[in-house]
Amino acid sequence: IFANVEMAPRDPILGLTEAFKDDTRAEKVNLGVGVYQDDNGKIPLLECVKAAEKARVEAGLPRGYQPIEGAAAYNAAVQNLLFGDDAELVKSGRVITFETLGGTGALKVGGDYLRRLYPEAKLYISDPSWENHRAVFENAGFTVETYAYYDPATRGANFPAMKAALEALPAHSVVVLHACCHNPTGADISESQWGEVVEACRKNDLIPFLDIAYQGFADGPEQDTAAVRMFADSGMQFLVASSFSKNFSLYGERVGALSIVTENKEEAARVLSQVKRVIRTNYSNPPTHGGAVVTAVLNSPELRKQWEGELAAMRQRILDMRHSLVDKLKAAGVEQDFSFITEQRGMFSYTGLTPEHVERMRDEFGIYAVKSGRICLAALNSRNVDYVAKAIATVVSK
Ligand code: LMR
Repeated sequence: IFANVEMAPRDPILGLTEAFKDDTRAEKVNLGVGVYQDDNGKIPLLECVKAAEKARVEAGLPRGYQPIEGAAAYNAAVQNLLFGDDAELVKSGRVITFETLGGTGALKVGGDYLRRLYPEAKLYISDPSWENHRAVFENAGFTVETYAYYDPATRGANFPAMKAALEALPAHSVVVLHACCHNPTGADISESQWGEVVEACRKNDLIPFLDIAYQGFADGPEQDTAAVRMFADSGMQFLVASSFSKNFSLYGERVGALSIVTENKEEAARVLSQVKRVIRTNYSNPPTHGGAVVTAVLNSPELRKQWEGELAAMRQRILDMRHSLVDKLKAAGVEQDFSFITEQRGMFSYTGLTPEHVERMRDEFGIYAVKSGRICLAALNSRNVDYVAKAIATVVSK
């Protein structure tokens, strides 16, 4: 059966983690995957999560199936976090939410559904985008193309080019937008520019699909929803894939959500029924534990406050590491100005390191980064930042 199977290439991000694990060098550093580690290089188990889990274990709950769309309390908590307490679209019942297997699961469920709904439509991702976006949506059957986004000269978004690209798209094109902490570049557009994106989407009848995997890593969980809420206020229909992997440090629990904003409550019921079919024929219904923990935290004023504090500490530590790396690069005699690292938002820096630089970092130093030059600042700590700065200094200087 399998005699002619060819070896597939490693995943561009998770494949780095595999290679990193096989590396026997003690000084190795994994700056590939977007995972937050504390100053001891450990993935934290948040105190708020610990408290919610303890209560849950003590309650000794049975493990029945969840509804296909996930727990109602979880889905309501997601809507509250994304759209706010008083959101019209929540009150009127025109938004529906599905608990999914991480943000990736939300993208795939949404992609599968949109593909059925608009089989002729093409899907557009930013240039560049998260390495897995193209693969997930191609796997859903879409032809995936890009819209202009990043300008290497300014290290920021090229907004006029982005806007022109969006304005040129045919009706019912699906447009994947990073709602905050653009992955991989860390270059976000401004609120007023988001207003123009909303307008371009509306004018051209586009299908916006917002991806918000790093909510809370730019300015805070509420502030980082600005783009989502502008779409909400516009009255348009759109989709949102969200994730608690990073902001709750629950990576392996696969806790995400797909929210779909429809025209009205009656339409929402019809869309709900169709997306349930997509889910049922894929993984049936989502797992219980992670979503229940997140719900317990978000619905307890005390634990929610604790969560916001723990998230703020993660955000601050990443910022400290951004400054530390820039200082140490300077101290290592690097002439190139790397101060842009302190301006980028979220977990990543799009360093401008070339594939050759990245290869040398891995071969000579055991430091793993994505081939595009993206590094994860959240994997730096007070013990490895010197080593990483010296490695970068070495590869860029000769
Ligand atoms: C990343 O971009 O590194 C994260 O979103 C993890 C992943 O699944 O790729």
